[in-house]
Amino acid sequence: MKITAINGSPKGKKSTTYLMVEEFLKGARDLKAETEHILLSNLKIHHCIGCFSCWTKTPGVCVFHDDMQKINLSDSDIILFATPLYVDNISGLLKNFMDRNIYSGVPTITKDAKGEAVHPKKQKVRPKIMIMANCGFPGQSHFEVLKLLFRRVARNYQTDLIGEIYRDEGPLLTWPDAELNEIVEKYKLLLRQAGKEIVQKLKISGTTQKALEEELIPQDLYLQHHNEFFKQFLTK
Ligand SMILES: Cc1cc2nc3c(=O)[nH]c(=O)nc-3n(C[C@H](O)[C@H](O)[C@H](O)COP(=O)(O)O)c2cc1C
Repeated sequence: MKITAINGSPKGKKSTTYLMVEEFLKGARDLKAETEHILLSNLKIHHCIGCFSCWTKTPGVCVFHDDMQKINLSDSDIILFATPLYVDNISGLLKNFMDRNIYSGVPTITKDAKGEAVHPKKQKVRPKIMIMANCGFPGQSHFEVLKLLFRRVARNYQTDLIGEIYRDEGPLLTWPDAELNEIVEKYKLLLRQAGKEIVQKLKISGTTQKALEEELIPQDLYLQHHNEFFKQFLTK
Protein backbone atom coordinates (compact mmCIF):
# COMPACT_ATOMS: atom_id res chain seq x y z
CA MET A 1 0.00 0.00 0.00
CA LYS A 2 1.24 3.48 -0.84
CA ILE A 3 0.07 6.63 0.96
CA THR A 4 0.96 10.00 -0.55
CA ALA A 5 0.51 13.11 1.57
CA ILE A 6 0.03 16.43 -0.18
CA ASN A 7 1.03 19.09 2.34
CA GLY A 8 -0.57 22.48 1.66
CA SER A 9 1.02 24.50 4.45
CA PRO A 10 3.09 27.44 3.19
CA LYS A 11 5.26 26.94 6.31
CA GLY A 12 6.66 23.63 5.04
CA LYS A 13 8.72 21.72 7.61
CA LYS A 14 8.05 24.33 10.32
CA SER A 15 4.31 23.78 10.15
CA THR A 16 1.96 21.94 12.46
CA THR A 17 0.67 20.24 9.31
CA TYR A 18 4.15 18.77 8.73
CA LEU A 19 4.38 17.42 12.28
CA MET A 20 0.94 15.82 12.00
CA VAL A 21 1.57 14.24 8.60
CA GLU A 22 4.96 12.87 9.66
CA GLU A 23 3.55 11.14 12.74
CA PHE A 24 0.64 9.66 10.80
CA LEU A 25 2.99 8.36 8.08
CA LYS A 26 5.34 6.91 10.73
CA GLY A 27 2.45 4.80 12.01
CA ALA A 28 1.65 3.68 8.46
CA ARG A 29 5.31 2.76 7.82
CA ASP A 30 5.36 0.70 11.04
CA LEU A 31 2.94 -1.60 9.21
CA LYS A 32 5.07 -1.63 6.06
CA ALA A 33 3.16 0.92 4.03
CA GLU A 34 5.14 2.92 1.49
CA THR A 35 4.77 6.65 2.09
CA GLU A 36 5.57 9.92 0.37
CA HIS A 37 5.25 13.42 1.85
CA ILE A 38 5.04 16.15 -0.77
CA LEU A 39 5.49 19.73 0.43
CA LEU A 40 3.70 22.07 -1.97
CA SER A 41 5.62 24.97 -0.40
CA ASN A 42 8.78 23.61 -2.06
CA LEU A 43 7.21 23.49 -5.52
CA LYS A 44 6.35 26.10 -8.09
CA ILE A 45 2.90 25.29 -9.45
CA HIS A 46 1.06 27.85 -11.56
CA HIS A 47 -2.63 28.21 -10.83
CA CYS A 48 -5.12 26.72 -13.28
CA ILE A 49 -6.22 29.29 -15.88
CA GLY A 50 -9.30 27.31 -16.92
CA CYS A 51 -8.29 27.05 -20.60
CA PHE A 52 -9.23 23.35 -20.77
CA SER A 53 -6.26 22.71 -23.09
CA CYS A 54 -5.61 19.59 -20.98
CA TRP A 55 -8.99 18.30 -22.14
CA THR A 56 -8.95 19.53 -25.73
CA LYS A 57 -5.79 20.70 -27.48
CA THR A 58 -3.30 18.53 -25.60
CA PRO A 59 -5.29 15.83 -23.75
CA GLY A 60 -3.76 15.04 -20.38
CA VAL A 61 -1.08 17.71 -20.68
CA CYS A 62 -1.29 21.13 -19.02
CA VAL A 63 -0.12 24.30 -20.77
CA PHE A 64 2.14 24.95 -17.77
CA HIS A 65 5.25 22.78 -17.68
CA ASP A 66 6.09 23.31 -14.04
CA ASP A 67 6.62 21.33 -10.82
CA MET A 68 3.19 19.74 -11.16
CA GLN A 69 4.97 17.31 -13.50
CA LYS A 70 7.07 16.09 -10.54
CA ILE A 71 3.96 14.77 -8.78
CA ASN A 72 2.80 11.33 -9.81
CA LEU A 73 -0.18 9.98 -7.91
CA SER A 74 -0.86 7.05 -10.22
CA ASP A 75 0.70 4.47 -7.89
CA SER A 76 -0.91 5.84 -4.70
CA ASP A 77 -3.62 3.86 -2.94
CA ILE A 78 -4.44 6.71 -0.56
CA ILE A 79 -4.00 10.46 -0.99
CA LEU A 80 -3.84 12.38 2.25
CA PHE A 81 -4.69 16.05 1.75
CA ALA A 82 -3.13 18.01 4.60
CA THR A 83 -3.71 21.69 5.22
CA PRO A 84 -3.86 24.49 7.74
CA LEU A 85 -7.34 26.02 7.98
CA TYR A 86 -7.31 29.32 6.11
CA VAL A 87 -10.50 31.43 6.38
CA ASP A 88 -12.46 28.27 7.22
CA ASN A 89 -11.12 26.54 4.12
CA ILE A 90 -8.09 24.73 2.71
CA SER A 91 -4.95 26.77 1.99
CA GLY A 92 -4.49 28.42 -1.39
CA LEU A 93 -1.54 26.12 -2.09
CA LEU A 94 -3.67 23.02 -1.69
CA LYS A 95 -6.60 24.46 -3.68
CA ASN A 96 -4.19 25.41 -6.43
CA PHE A 97 -2.87 21.84 -6.54
CA MET A 98 -6.39 20.37 -6.58
CA ASP A 99 -7.45 22.63 -9.46
CA ARG A 100 -4.38 21.69 -11.49
CA ASN A 101 -5.05 18.01 -10.82
CA ILE A 102 -8.23 18.23 -12.89
CA TYR A 103 -6.48 16.94 -16.01
CA SER A 104 -6.39 13.52 -14.36
CA GLY A 105 -10.14 13.30 -14.99
CA VAL A 106 -12.20 12.72 -18.11
CA PRO A 107 -13.99 15.72 -19.68
CA THR A 108 -17.29 14.04 -20.54
CA ILE A 109 -20.10 14.15 -17.99
CA THR A 110 -22.17 11.24 -16.79
CA LYS A 111 -24.43 10.60 -13.80
CA ASP A 112 -23.51 8.86 -10.59
CA ALA A 113 -25.62 6.25 -8.79
CA LYS A 114 -27.72 9.03 -7.22
CA GLY A 115 -28.34 10.73 -10.57
CA GLU A 116 -25.97 13.60 -9.90
CA ALA A 117 -23.62 14.79 -12.67
CA VAL A 118 -20.00 13.71 -12.48
CA HIS A 119 -16.99 13.10 -14.74
CA PRO A 120 -16.48 9.39 -15.51
CA LYS A 121 -13.61 7.59 -13.80
CA LYS A 122 -10.36 7.44 -15.78
CA GLN A 123 -8.93 4.52 -13.81
CA LYS A 124 -11.17 1.72 -12.53
CA VAL A 125 -9.75 2.00 -9.04
CA ARG A 126 -9.18 5.56 -7.86
CA PRO A 127 -7.02 6.32 -4.84
CA LYS A 128 -9.02 6.71 -1.66
CA ILE A 129 -8.69 10.09 0.04
CA MET A 130 -8.17 11.47 3.53
CA ILE A 131 -8.19 14.99 4.97
CA MET A 132 -5.96 16.20 7.80
CA ALA A 133 -6.25 19.81 8.94
CA ASN A 134 -5.32 22.01 11.86
CA CYS A 135 -6.51 25.44 12.86
CA GLY A 136 -5.66 28.28 15.23
CA PHE A 137 -9.01 28.60 16.99
CA PRO A 138 -10.09 26.22 19.73
CA GLY A 139 -13.09 23.97 18.96
CA GLN A 140 -13.95 21.36 16.36
CA SER A 141 -16.75 23.47 14.84
CA HIS A 142 -14.18 25.35 12.74
CA PHE A 143 -13.84 22.29 10.50
CA GLU A 144 -17.48 22.21 9.42
CA VAL A 145 -16.70 23.57 5.95
CA LEU A 146 -13.91 21.02 5.41
CA LYS A 147 -16.14 18.18 6.56
CA LEU A 148 -18.69 19.01 3.87
CA LEU A 149 -16.04 19.97 1.31
CA PHE A 150 -14.21 16.64 1.45
CA ARG A 151 -17.42 14.64 1.24
CA ARG A 152 -18.10 16.54 -1.98
CA VAL A 153 -14.49 16.15 -3.19
CA ALA A 154 -14.73 12.37 -2.67
CA ARG A 155 -17.91 12.34 -4.74
CA ASN A 156 -16.31 14.55 -7.39
CA TYR A 157 -13.30 12.21 -7.57
CA GLN A 158 -15.65 9.20 -7.33
CA THR A 159 -13.77 7.67 -4.49
CA ASP A 160 -14.10 7.13 -0.75
CA LEU A 161 -13.20 9.53 2.03
CA ILE A 162 -11.67 7.05 4.47
CA GLY A 163 -10.33 9.32 7.21
CA GLU A 164 -10.63 12.80 8.66
CA ILE A 165 -8.25 14.22 11.25
CA TYR A 166 -9.00 17.71 12.52
CA ARG A 167 -6.82 19.41 15.13
CA ASP A 168 -8.04 22.65 16.68
CA GLU A 169 -5.57 24.58 18.91
CA GLY A 170 -3.09 23.41 16.25
CA PRO A 171 -0.26 25.88 17.01
CA LEU A 172 0.20 24.19 20.42
CA LEU A 173 1.85 21.25 18.66
CA THR A 174 4.74 23.42 17.45
CA TRP A 175 4.98 26.00 20.25
CA PRO A 176 8.43 25.86 21.86
CA ASP A 177 7.06 25.29 25.34
CA ALA A 178 8.47 22.35 27.30
CA GLU A 179 5.34 22.30 29.50
CA LEU A 180 3.40 21.09 26.47
CA ASN A 181 5.71 18.13 25.74
CA GLU A 182 3.55 15.50 27.38
CA ILE A 183 0.40 16.70 25.60
CA VAL A 184 2.18 16.84 22.24
CA GLU A 185 3.73 13.37 22.64
CA LYS A 186 0.35 11.88 23.57
CA TYR A 187 -1.23 13.39 20.47
CA LYS A 188 1.63 12.18 18.25
CA LEU A 189 1.00 8.62 19.47
CA LEU A 190 -2.65 8.97 18.47
CA LEU A 191 -1.64 10.12 15.00
CA ARG A 192 0.66 7.10 14.65
CA GLN A 193 -2.17 4.85 15.81
CA ALA A 194 -4.46 6.41 13.16
CA GLY A 195 -1.79 5.72 10.52
CA LYS A 196 -1.65 2.07 11.57
CA GLU A 197 -5.42 1.69 11.56
CA ILE A 198 -5.71 3.15 8.08
CA VAL A 199 -3.19 0.59 6.79
CA GLN A 200 -4.90 -2.27 8.64
CA LYS A 201 -8.57 -1.46 8.11
CA LEU A 202 -8.79 1.55 5.78
CA LYS A 203 -10.51 3.45 8.57
CA ILE A 204 -9.84 5.11 11.91
CA SER A 205 -11.49 3.37 14.85
CA GLY A 206 -14.13 5.19 16.88
CA THR A 207 -11.90 5.19 19.97
CA THR A 208 -8.93 6.73 18.15
CA GLN A 209 -11.16 9.25 16.36
CA LYS A 210 -12.70 10.38 19.64
CA ALA A 211 -9.30 10.75 21.29
CA LEU A 212 -7.94 12.70 18.29
CA GLU A 213 -10.73 15.24 18.71
CA GLU A 214 -10.26 15.84 22.41
CA GLU A 215 -9.08 19.32 23.47
CA LEU A 216 -5.31 19.58 23.91
CA ILE A 217 -5.81 22.12 26.69
CA PRO A 218 -9.03 23.77 27.97
CA GLN A 219 -10.30 26.40 25.51
CA ASP A 220 -10.19 29.28 28.01
CA LEU A 221 -6.59 28.50 28.92
CA TYR A 222 -5.69 28.39 25.22
CA LEU A 223 -7.30 31.80 24.62
CA GLN A 224 -5.55 33.22 27.66
CA HIS A 225 -2.10 32.09 26.40
CA HIS A 226 -2.83 33.17 22.83
CA ASN A 227 -4.06 36.62 23.83
CA GLU A 228 -1.26 37.13 26.33
CA PHE A 229 1.29 36.49 23.55
CA PHE A 230 -0.37 38.70 20.92
CA LYS A 231 -1.10 41.56 23.34
CA GLN A 232 2.44 42.90 22.77
CA PHE A 233 1.76 43.41 19.05
CA LEU A 234 -1.55 45.26 19.42
CA THR A 235 -1.46 48.92 18.40
CA LYS A 236 -3.16 51.32 20.74
C1 LIG B 1 -4.37 33.49 6.10
C2 LIG B 1 -4.72 32.71 7.34
C3 LIG B 1 -6.04 32.41 7.59
C4 LIG B 1 -6.39 31.68 8.74
N1 LIG B 1 -7.72 31.38 8.96
C5 LIG B 1 -8.06 30.68 10.06
C6 LIG B 1 -9.43 30.36 10.32
O1 LIG B 1 -10.34 30.71 9.56
N2 LIG B 1 -9.72 29.67 11.44
C7 LIG B 1 -8.77 29.24 12.31
O2 LIG B 1 -9.08 28.60 13.31
N3 LIG B 1 -7.44 29.51 12.08
C8 LIG B 1 -7.08 30.21 10.98
N4 LIG B 1 -5.75 30.49 10.73
C9 LIG B 1 -4.72 29.97 11.66
C10 LIG B 1 -4.04 28.69 11.13
O3 LIG B 1 -4.97 27.71 10.76
C11 LIG B 1 -3.13 28.14 12.23
O4 LIG B 1 -2.13 29.07 12.53
C12 LIG B 1 -2.51 26.80 11.87
O5 LIG B 1 -1.96 26.23 13.04
C13 LIG B 1 -1.40 26.91 10.83
O6 LIG B 1 -0.99 25.61 10.48
P1 LIG B 1 0.42 25.25 9.85
O7 LIG B 1 1.47 25.54 10.90
O8 LIG B 1 0.30 23.81 9.57
O9 LIG B 1 0.59 26.07 8.61
C14 LIG B 1 -5.39 31.25 9.62
C15 LIG B 1 -4.04 31.57 9.36
C16 LIG B 1 -3.71 32.30 8.24
C17 LIG B 1 -2.26 32.64 7.97
